[in-house]
Amino acid sequence: MASAMELSLLNPAMHHHGIAAKTASHLPLLPARRGAVRFRVRAAAAAPPAPAAKPGSPKKRGKTEVNESLLTPRFYTTDFDEMEQLFNAEINKQLNQDEFDALLQEFKTDYNQTHFIRNPEFKEAADKMQGPLRQIFVEFLERSCTAEFSGFLLYKELGRRLKKTNPVVAEIFSLMSRDEARHAGFLNKGLSDFNLALDLGFLTKARKYTFFKPKFIFYATYLSEKIGYWRYITIFRHLKANPEYQVYPIFKYFENWCQDENRHGDFFSALLKAQPQFLNDWKAKLWSRFFCLSVYITMYLNDCQRSAFYEGIGLNTKEFDMHVIYEDRPTARRRGSSLLYRMLRTLNSRGS
Ligand SMILES: [Fe+2]
Ligand SMILES: [Fe+2]
Repeated sequence: MASAMELSLLNPAMHHHGIAAKTASHLPLLPARRGAVRFRVRAAAAAPPAPAAKPGSPKKRGKTEVNESLLTPRFYTTDFDEMEQLFNAEINKQLNQDEFDALLQEFKTDYNQTHFIRNPEFKEAADKMQGPLRQIFVEFLERSCTAEFSGFLLYKELGRRLKKTNPVVAEIFSLMSRDEARHAGFLNKGLSDFNLALDLGFLTKARKYTFFKPKFIFYATYLSEKIGYWRYITIFRHLKANPEYQVYPIFKYFENWCQDENRHGDFFSALLKAQPQFLNDWKAKLWSRFFCLSVYITMYLNDCQRSAFYEGIGLNTKEFDMHVIYEDRPTARRRGSSLLYRMLRTLNSRGS
């Protein structure tokens, strides 16, 4: 999602598991301890959704509640039994094992193993950032970290659950969770430059989990990964051409980072090909179109709320979104995509 699920979705039929956050306070940001990284991947790896809290039960350890809205990056869960059926080669003859073997080799190569290494520029840049820009940057890091971590949790669990049914697909999911953990960890270290850290262990337990049937998980993750790719590469290219807006070095890492997201998207593309029933009948076509539109609309609404961030790095928010949608059009159905493109253009001309 950039990250498995960089983008939250406006889900028509969502069910929630876990603690329902009622009031907006904030994500569980904590003052960073010197030298301590509050990123507990192992502890979070296969954690099931937490049981619902009893009404009125006290919050543990005095942590703040999780701020949720329709547009907050979400954590996802799915029907793992159905997933096992879908990836059972005995049942599904469409599975192209050769293609999955080739993809597995790609993931094993681990192109970005040594990419995410920090340097002193990060802290220096963060210290220079003050006022509203500093605040919006913290929010950017926090939301991106949550979204990447959401991908980590989902992929990790899929890797675990599919191990017996389809070890190759399971290993790919585990290697994708490796990538997402790396992305989330890098963003969380970014937060430490601002003397903060996300308590991801707490988030794992306290966050609501949105249930999607496997079909919808495939649509949502595929789109999120591909759109994530376009968002990262667009920001990278823009800042390369306009270095005066390079206010924080994390963007310099986006070029290789987005290749991870592109590979994740390619894997979901192969998964969808192996499940033609999710693509070919009229219902599937409507659902996939609907998902495409909701992902774009969510992205647009999210970004419009944060135009100060995009302006801070020299981007026009609406133009940026239109560029991502336009570039992403082979991913989406061309008609759906251009419809939204026209819609955004109309909104843009009204706004200016
Ligand atoms: Fe990612
Ligand atoms: Fe990803």
